[in-house]
Amino acid sequence: MLLHGTDALTAAARESTAIPGFVAYNLETVQAVVAAAETSGRPVLLQAGSSAFKHAGREALMALALDTARRSTARIGVHLDHSRDLAEIAACIDAGYTSVMIDGSHLPFAQNVALTRTAVAMAHEAGVWAEAELGALAGDEDVSTGATAAGGSMTDPDQAAEFTAATGIDALAVAVGNVHGFTAEPVRLDLDRLAAIRDAVPVPLVLHGASGLPEEQLLGALRRGVAKVNVNAELRRAYLTAVESALPSALPGSDTVATWAAARDAVTAAALRITERLATAARPV
Ligand code: 13P
Repeated sequence: MLLHGTDALTAAARESTAIPGFVAYNLETVQAVVAAAETSGRPVLLQAGSSAFKHAGREALMALALDTARRSTARIGVHLDHSRDLAEIAACIDAGYTSVMIDGSHLPFAQNVALTRTAVAMAHEAGVWAEAELGALAGDEDVSTGATAAGGSMTDPDQAAEFTAATGIDALAVAVGNVHGFTAEPVRLDLDRLAAIRDAVPVPLVLHGASGLPEEQLLGALRRGVAKVNVNAELRRAYLTAVESALPSALPGSDTVATWAAARDAVTAAALRITERLATAARPV
């Protein structure tokens, strides 16, 4: 069933747990994320952004995600990830998405506020919640580049408070040393900054770039107000590793179904592990 509204998110923030936001580019990954939600009994967010739409076709991927979520017994939010495009946001809201992310993090502060305000108004009018980002993450959303946090710019707590009040967002994505994709060196988050943002901002926080994040860093984030954790690269790696292992036996007969099924099983296992990890309450600090 579709998970509407922010109750699950605010409950997660209260419990120092988090809801995963899993990026899905194709059929097998959508099915795997939903299967993980069903097995765990936990809510999840099924996400895609502009590059996934470019690959699969926006109408096709929107319909697939919404239909799979609606048919499931699990609570699934269908979320637009990292969008800079108000027309794309409008299309997702019209299709029935339950939340959207407007990403104006590349813009100067005043322009980010103006763009975000517009997107939030569109979302709220349709009963959809909105996430936005302040500060900028290093790395690439679709490919692990081994980037370091130095390529980004950190979220300022005072600016975060001003941004949240001026835009009316429901969740704030922060840059506190997190990086998109796997990194060459283990990531160290600025946990003091994260705690200061949490204390300054009345909405749940979102941590992008969770793939490969050391366990104690993830736990530190859950203890400091992060209630949504975005994961992409870990699912991509599970998918591709399974395809690589399946190929020697699949290639002779060109058995594509066996290969896709192996990929789906591997992504299901990875998504389940992450969902259950995030559901384990941390002690707040
Ligand atoms: P990772 O690829 O590091 O998991 O980041 C995913 C993400 O933040 C999607 O918005």
